[in-house]
Amino acid sequence: MAGKLIALLLLSTFLIGCQSDQKIKERNSAKTKHPINPNGDSELALLMRDMFEESDSLKQLVADGKSLTGLKKYKDIHSAVPTDPAVKGPVFEAFAQAYVASINELESADSASIFKFNSMVDKCMNCHTEFCPGPKKRIKKLYIEE
Ligand code: HEC
Repeated sequence: MAGKLIALLLLSTFLIGCQSDQKIKERNSAKTKHPINPNGDSELALLMRDMFEESDSLKQLVADGKSLTGLKKYKDIHSAVPTDPAVKGPVFEAFAQAYVASINELESADSASIFKFNSMVDKCMNCHTEFCPGPKKRIKKLYIEE
């Protein structure tokens, strides 16, 4: 019974590259309990998780008006292999470039800029609208209310 459940969870990990929050939660809890599938996550998915974490920490700094330096630029976004190879192409590249540019903008601001931070989150949302709507609900929570 438990074996079947694990098999099912693993299967869904392979089949659904771009997942809803619920799926991510299910999978993450399955993984901590049963770390049997270390290669199930794509490079891009792992990178995205880092990006999410960093953006979430940045949100606090910006909200507190702290200055921002040493931001990770996540240039690997161009080379990281996605779950679904069909994702990569000129459209993805354009969205990726816009995202990196927005991080540069944010860092070059004299003081923490809510406007520039939110504009960076826009870049996450834009690409996700095109390729990966699942996590949008979660990404949306990064926006700082002005
Ligand atoms: C250029 C396009 C693009 C940009 C920009 C982008 N994403 Fe993604 N994101 C994707 C794609 C495609 C996936 C699916 C990755 C996969 O499964 O291989 C993804 C997956 C994710 C995931 C799910 C990862 C998982 O656990 O499977 C999260 C969370 C995420 N992105 C957050 C963000 C955040 C936050 C930003 C902005 C800081 C961002 N993304 C910017 C394309 C993008």
